[in-house]
Amino acid sequence: MADPPAKRPRHALKEPPFPCRHVLAPLVGCSDLAFRLLCRRHGATACYTEMLFADRFVGCADYRERKLQTCAEDAPLVVQFCGTDPATMGRAAALAAPHCAAVDINLGCPLPGAREGGFGAYLLERDRWALVTAMVQAMRRAAPNLPVCCKIRLLPSLADTVEFCRALEAAGVALIAVHGRHRPPADEHRGRRREAADLDAVRACVAAVGVPVLSNGNTQAHEDVARNLAHTGAAGVMSGEGALRNPLLFAPATAAEAGEGGAPSVPQLRRCADEYLALAERHPPESSAVVRSHLMWLLGKSGKSHRCEFEHCGPYSGAQLRLALLDADSLEEFRAVVAAVFGGVS
Ligand SMILES: Cc1cc2nc3c(=O)[nH]c(=O)nc-3n(C[C@H](O)[C@H](O)[C@H](O)COP(=O)(O)O)c2cc1C
Repeated sequence: MADPPAKRPRHALKEPPFPCRHVLAPLVGCSDLAFRLLCRRHGATACYTEMLFADRFVGCADYRERKLQTCAEDAPLVVQFCGTDPATMGRAAALAAPHCAAVDINLGCPLPGAREGGFGAYLLERDRWALVTAMVQAMRRAAPNLPVCCKIRLLPSLADTVEFCRALEAAGVALIAVHGRHRPPADEHRGRRREAADLDAVRACVAAVGVPVLSNGNTQAHEDVARNLAHTGAAGVMSGEGALRNPLLFAPATAAEAGEGGAPSVPQLRRCADEYLALAERHPPESSAVVRSHLMWLLGKSGKSHRCEFEHCGPYSGAQLRLALLDADSLEEFRAVVAAVFGGVS
């Protein structure tokens, strides 16, 4: 039997700080301006930047310029910061304020660097909650008109997760994105993202707070979005890998043309690759590694280094395609690889 609709909290629900039904997740190395614009054209109602280091953002104008490229069409934009010092997080929020609709604190990064720095998902431990709420409050004080959001993972127990969401709400956050997975061991984060997200846990968070919650985890196809919202009652869905593999994920009009299981059709992928490369020409990403990474996601990369496979290789073997992408450096060279993979497809 279908689950009953998610229960809403009894207290008044707050308005989302930005249109948040279809949100592009923060993605290190992949949340460049060109990709955000591509996703916006195809249904994303808001986009996050990748995680920016608050201390570098505050201390280095060059870092700010490189990492926070934006333009008029790139709105609403949420700038995500990681850090552990309330004063620095406050200064970062004030510097970002003229360029964005909201700022966000990363409370989900599981990587070894986050463990060493004590940020990201390593702030979810109960003895660090006071520091997190102090950061939220410092950011709110430093940029009084700017909504402050948090992106969390699941804590070890559901009761803790819900209690933490309530603590964030009490500290004044405007929105909480809940990635419905636990923190994996720092060296195993990649494989774990493939595991199904715990949407029941997201639903419990939605029911526990009056601020809008975004449901994050495992939206691969357009149908997943509505299914996820119906199950969790969340204000919106945030997608990471799904959007990287299929930037048309949020667009209902293109879903009809999609292939098996909602995967994008080959002509759709070709158009996405061409459109991304055209946008990257107008808004050059920080390095060619960003372009390479997008093409690898679009071509359906799986596996690591020389053992990697692609869903779409054209005349190449997986290893040859990987080498061709590694050799390419200019947009012209990337275009040539895309043309070779897709041949006459248009
Ligand atoms: C390439 C990549 C980079 C990521 N970078 C960030 C990041 O900068 N900040 C963050 O909070 N999460 C980051 N994540 C996690 C995603 O935002 C998202 O929470 C996770 O992928 C689960 O959602 P999904 O199942 O839709 O992919 C990253 C994920 C990927 C795949």
